[in-house]
Amino acid sequence: MKKIAVLTSGGDAPGMNACIRAVVRTGIFHGMEMYGIMYGYDGMINGEIQRMESHAVSNIVQRGGTILKSARSEMFRTKEGRKKAYEQLQKHGIEGLVAIGGDGTFTGAKVFYEEYGIPTIGCPGTIDNDIFGTDFTIGFDTAINTALEAIDKIRDTAAAHDRIFFIEVMGRDSGYIAVECGLGGGAEMVMVPETKTTLNEVVEKLKGSRKTKTSSVIVVAEGDEEGSAAEIMEKVKHTINDDSKDFKVTTLGHIQRGGSPTGKDRMLASRCGMAAVEGLMNGQANCMAGIIHDEVVYTSFEDCITKSKPLNRDTLKLIEILSI
Ligand code: F6P
Repeated sequence: MKKIAVLTSGGDAPGMNACIRAVVRTGIFHGMEMYGIMYGYDGMINGEIQRMESHAVSNIVQRGGTILKSARSEMFRTKEGRKKAYEQLQKHGIEGLVAIGGDGTFTGAKVFYEEYGIPTIGCPGTIDNDIFGTDFTIGFDTAINTALEAIDKIRDTAAAHDRIFFIEVMGRDSGYIAVECGLGGGAEMVMVPETKTTLNEVVEKLKGSRKTKTSSVIVVAEGDEEGSAAEIMEKVKHTINDDSKDFKVTTLGHIQRGGSPTGKDRMLASRCGMAAVEGLMNGQANCMAGIIHDEVVYTSFEDCITKSKPLNRDTLKLIEILSI
């Protein structure tokens, strides 16, 4: 293999740049020609493919976002789009791919590999930490630290006014961010898509904690089955029906996706990036390079996409215990 291209796809995550840097430099170290594809699979279809020398990735290890830009490609879901993408790779002589992203990215990579056989390895880049085959995903540690900083600030003002705050964090299908932030941020409760929490339980919890506490924080993952934090707050407020209680909502939103990656994320990104390139050199394909128990592990895209990584029940229990 002489020519490898790298792309970032789906929601960006802090540490993607550190991963791109590791992919490009590992490839160059091993004597390969490295290429960057702009805007994920859309750029592959449109031929936005450019050579990357070592200096192209200078001074990016500390930067959030992705220098290759990212997109969620609709065209790549179609046979016609993937054919165009293949033709572009052929035109540039690309023999291997590294796809940095989440399960959507890997689903696309798997279908493409099955159709055209271009060896592809993924790196787990998503703040959601919901990928099977790796203990952590690139960007998760930064995202939770960003969210925790915000939650700490909200707690200050919540305490000053004796208020009840519902704080919405990201996680359309996964509660990893909510659970880590709920524990670290001292929340009364977390609401996540993986477990059912009824509105009645929320009301009871708040009534109970008002006996000992003057302010409360509930962390809600955006994908919770009861709705958004704003919707849940309205329903709870209506049920409690007490004008002396002051309810507020804060949606943290995309600030969780930005910012300089933490040391942990830079380390994870660099290791996965190197493992992806070396995996391709050693004949691996159609899989993701992740880290489990501090060791590089290659997991098939099939498993990454179809198997779920369950939340740690002990952590959920711990939140309950520590919030009495
Ligand atoms: O998958 C990462 C993620 O940040 C999710 O937590 C969130 O639901 C989604 O992306 C938001 O995507 P977008 O930026 O396209 O609205």
